Amino acid sequence: MARLLIEGGQPLSGEVVVSGAKNSALPIIVAAALATEGKSVLNNIPRDSDVGTICLILRSLGVEVYFDSENRLHIDGRSLNSYQAPYDLVRKMRASFYTAGLLLARLGKAEVPLPGGCAIGSRPVDFHIRGFTQMGAEVIIEHGFMKAQCKELIGTNYYINRSSVGTTINLMIAASLAKGTTVLENCAKEPEVVDLAIFLNGMGAKIRGAGTDIIRIEGVESLKGIEYSIIPDRIEAGTYIFATAAAGGDVVIKNVVAEHLRSPIIKIEETGVIIERGDNQIRVIAPEKLKAIDVETAPYPGFPTDLQQPLVAAMCTAEGTSVIRENIFDRFRYVDELRRMGADIKVERETAIIRGVPQLTGAPVEVTDLRAGAALVIAGLAATGITEIYGLDIIDRGYEDLEGKLRGLGARITREETRNAYDIFEQIEKVNA
Ligand code: EPZ
Repeated sequence: MARLLIEGGQPLSGEVVVSGAKNSALPIIVAAALATEGKSVLNNIPRDSDVGTICLILRSLGVEVYFDSENRLHIDGRSLNSYQAPYDLVRKMRASFYTAGLLLARLGKAEVPLPGGCAIGSRPVDFHIRGFTQMGAEVIIEHGFMKAQCKELIGTNYYINRSSVGTTINLMIAASLAKGTTVLENCAKEPEVVDLAIFLNGMGAKIRGAGTDIIRIEGVESLKGIEYSIIPDRIEAGTYIFATAAAGGDVVIKNVVAEHLRSPIIKIEETGVIIERGDNQIRVIAPEKLKAIDVETAPYPGFPTDLQQPLVAAMCTAEGTSVIRENIFDRFRYVDELRRMGADIKVERETAIIRGVPQLTGAPVEVTDLRAGAALVIAGLAATGITEIYGLDIIDRGYEDLEGKLRGLGARITREETRNAYDIFEQIEKVNA
């Protein structure tokens, strides 16, 4: 079992370069397989395990997918030939459900397991399925699979009950090749939705309104592969902002679109952190002591749920009491781990009340979900003594070389491979012999 060892109390300094956005890469990789003319070449794709998983899922559907020596991802959808997505891969990640939109659009048939993903409460896909149904697909749920088919998808007007990133993306993918025009209302406005629309339009799709509540997609006959570079990861950038705020120091974060981080930047400035916006980069200068703040998560452009946990970790040692309300997911399980490090946090339904303590102390802790992993790393950087973090495969799902990048900023952080369960059996056998 691998673990991270962090010796806290070291302020961060220097420069860190943010990778491409995982949550943009995943839908764009899937959408690339819509093309029946030429292949797509994608730049700025992060090397995290969710990206690896989506590539394997596409391969299992017959799509040609490979990285070249310059780290560009090639995707050729012409060879797509299977409508059955494999359970062992799909269960790992919710974004794998985007293959449903792809398969319905390309083959008129999809059998996709209901997806898994991070343990952050119930995460249904009912909005996606209702959208497919309204576009003319016959859908049944059987043995844990969504089985859907249609002669062709037909454009429709669909109101998404709650602004949902995944639903907006899946239906944009499906509607790009549908017959007629689809109008999606109450759409998610996240930068990743806009990035996908720009990519699809480059492939020949006709999408207007991405980034607003209403997206209009005029279906086209076919799409072609293109070369494209995806946007930087705003959540990874936000993670380094909160890490610097918590550990102290002065850090320049490169490959950032500051506009995508408006609300986290405004909130972190309230804590006393100084942010200097530059060209494609920001500089973060931490104060001696952070001031407590109140924050609510909300769909973009509100404060992102994916930064709620890093924020809470930073607020553990702020002066005063912070009140953080989580409106999107059930995402406070990790708080128990922060308490083990000395944090004073009370959770009442969707709200965490954090009384700042003078100091966190290192402890062994376990990652419960991706951004909780980032939060524990941040807490470890701020704490005195050694923090041991277990459950690294969850962090690896969405961060490319988190510990390497933090080490580059002066953090004392190492990854250690410890004995796994099978090693223990080996030892037992030796004793018996
Ligand atoms: C995306 O998840 C992101 N994942 C999440 O990032 C992110 O936290 C979330 O959007 C919110 O910004 C990817 O992009 C791969 P939603 P998604 O559909 O699309 C409810 C991370 O850490 N809902 O916008 O799954 C849902 O339960 C991950 O990188 C339904 O009820 O989120 C939630 O309360 C975690 N039925 C709300 O809508 C549905 O059919 C918004 O979810 C769909 C959603």
